Amino acid sequence: MSILTIKDLHVTYGTGTPAVRGVDLTVAAGRKLGVAGESGCGKSTLALALLRLLPASARLTGEILLDGEDVLTMKWGRLRAVRWAGASIVFQGAMHSLNAVHRIGDQIAEPLLVHRRATPAEARARAGALLEQVGLPAARAAAYPHELSGGQRQRVMIAMALACEPRLLVADEPTTALDVMIQAQILRLLDQLVTDQDISLVMISHDLAVLADTCDRLAVMYAGRVVEEGPARDVYDAARHPYGRALSAAFPRIGDPASRRAPRGLPGDPPDPAALPSGCTFHPRCPVALESCASQDPPLAPAAPGHVAACVLTTGSPA
Ligand SMILES: Nc1ncnc2c1ncn2[C@@H]1O[C@H](COP(=O)(O)OP(=O)(O)O)[C@@H](O)[C@H]1O
Ligand code: SF4
Ligand SMILES: [Mg+2]
Repeated sequence: MSILTIKDLHVTYGTGTPAVRGVDLTVAAGRKLGVAGESGCGKSTLALALLRLLPASARLTGEILLDGEDVLTMKWGRLRAVRWAGASIVFQGAMHSLNAVHRIGDQIAEPLLVHRRATPAEARARAGALLEQVGLPAARAAAYPHELSGGQRQRVMIAMALACEPRLLVADEPTTALDVMIQAQILRLLDQLVTDQDISLVMISHDLAVLADTCDRLAVMYAGRVVEEGPARDVYDAARHPYGRALSAAFPRIGDPASRRAPRGLPGDPPDPAALPSGCTFHPRCPVALESCASQDPPLAPAAPGHVAACVLTTGSPA
């Protein structure tokens, strides 16, 4: 049974920046999907679309089924309920999402008071318990955000995301702003919490190694599309798409400081969505491109058991 099914999702900003171009993805209940790709390939746009948190200028088409219900056509009241109780998002740069003038315990308790109709005493007790779950003493509830380290603030964000017991957690580069040692701790914590509580996870990162370690399945995005998807270990160890191979070669292990840089050995930058290359959008950077790649854009097709890739070399010539 899938908790999240994304069908042919397109997101276009303003007058024509196609940031997401026809994404299909599925997350089974209790499973973890990693989404990888360089900066600018549409990962955050995809995450925001899941709960309709995109700016008003964004046009969306397709379907986003959460437990079978389409988020894109949900009425506002239902959407609000789903945002609190069905799915939660942990974003990068958590420090900016906490309110500087409120104690963290009150910030964790607030959704419980508003959306769960908890009494103040219940909400306080639950906030303390949530802090302990994320490895902070309950007494830290009295602290203000500036009194915490970056890693502690990210733990608080995770506690807030878990407060209403979501069925799906979306973590968008949840550790990018943190020190590498702390990154590993936070990722382990997230991994353990979602496993223990049987929450489904969509974990977004530019670092394939991190995702291979935490997730069941892995999708690689390039220029707004999924170009490869399969069992996480397979995609990391034996990528079938040249871009997936470049990404996995770039990030040898968790905690490597090089993981903050662009993939090694891959020239150039990802394309500007407003001026996409013809044919396979990866062809200007692809080390094994054929002449036909400049004009032919291969669709995702089976490349190995349970593993799809959009490359003419792994899936045969386009018709
Ligand atoms: N609010 C916005 N308005 C216009 N363009 C945007 C907006 N947000 C993102 N983009 C563009 O959409 C593309 C994908 O961005 P994003 O989803 O943030 O990628 P990623 O998270 O993979 O780095 C980029 O080219 C980015 O410049
Ligand atoms: S289709 Fe061609 S350009 Fe695109 S990834 Fe495959 S070989 Fe490279
Ligand atoms: Mg992003």
